[in-house]
Amino acid sequence: MKILMVCLGNICRSPIAEGVLKYKAQLAGLEWVVESAGTNGFYNGEAPHHLSQKVSLSNGIDISGQKSRQLTKIDFHQFDRIYAMANDVLAYMKEIGGKDYDETKTSLFLDELYPGEFRDVPDPWYGKEDGYVTVFDLIDRTCDVIIKKYSENK
Ligand code: 4NP
Repeated sequence: MKILMVCLGNICRSPIAEGVLKYKAQLAGLEWVVESAGTNGFYNGEAPHHLSQKVSLSNGIDISGQKSRQLTKIDFHQFDRIYAMANDVLAYMKEIGGKDYDETKTSLFLDELYPGEFRDVPDPWYGKEDGYVTVFDLIDRTCDVIIKKYSENK
């Protein structure tokens, strides 16, 4: 399985999702490729936000080595599953993908935890540390569902 996590900046939410899913896949003995990207490209080359790093590390997951990158059309061909952290992200993904956008492999991340509810992982960018804790918790629980759902497809 090759899974891509996508948010706006690829510095707050999707780096946590990449780190958590990689960690859980490894623990489960799954040889998955997990990456993340952002729709806006504003932070290309930058490490995750320090609070995303802090909250992840306090849960035993080091995401400090990640580098932000922008989503490209090629990603729609290279990954098996592409998750949008929020509805606005999904709309931008369609714009970037154009005719390469593949709706069969793309969905809202929180649909895995709350099917049919179209929920967003809240953007913690303008808030404080507690927002990042909330985001981590949502991502952690959703990644458990993803591991369970796809663990037959090594
Ligand atoms: P992310 O958070 O999409 O979770 O990485 C954001 C980071 C920066 C901005 C928006 C969201 N921004 O507009 O600068």
